[in-house]
Amino acid sequence: MCEKSESEELSESLIEDASPRRGFLKFLGLFSGIVAMLPASIAQAKKIALPLAKIKALAEVGGQKLLKVKGKEILFVRDSETSVASLNPICTHKKCQVAFKPETGLLFCKCHKSAYDIKKGTVLDGPAPRPLEIYPTTLKNGKIIVDLPNT
Ligand code: FES
Repeated sequence: MCEKSESEELSESLIEDASPRRGFLKFLGLFSGIVAMLPASIAQAKKIALPLAKIKALAEVGGQKLLKVKGKEILFVRDSETSVASLNPICTHKKCQVAFKPETGLLFCKCHKSAYDIKKGTVLDGPAPRPLEIYPTTLKNGKIIVDLPNT
């Protein structure tokens, strides 16, 4: 049996839609019918912004926090003074939950000891067959901006 930590649901009021596509889609909405013809990948892509100051666990380098954002569990890791990483925390081997080990700078799964690179999600050790899903994330003006994959 794999171990999992409880994720905390992030209040909807703290989540901003930071997608530049939103304004574009509104513009296209003026021409009825065009939005309906867009590929689903464009219409459903989500860019969200979260206030770093409200997530205390990420105040210091090495901190991490598992949050549920828009129904999706995301592990946030403060991997440097100027960056935050975000990823799907489910190990690609047998679906245990991974955690960041600040002393190594790597993500680890304690079930069968797979290790992953924090930046690319690539497998560095253990039986994991595939990389972790890392979401493009930037830290700008006190906000964590995450490009969530299409669902
Ligand atoms: S479940 Fe993660 S290494 Fe096996």
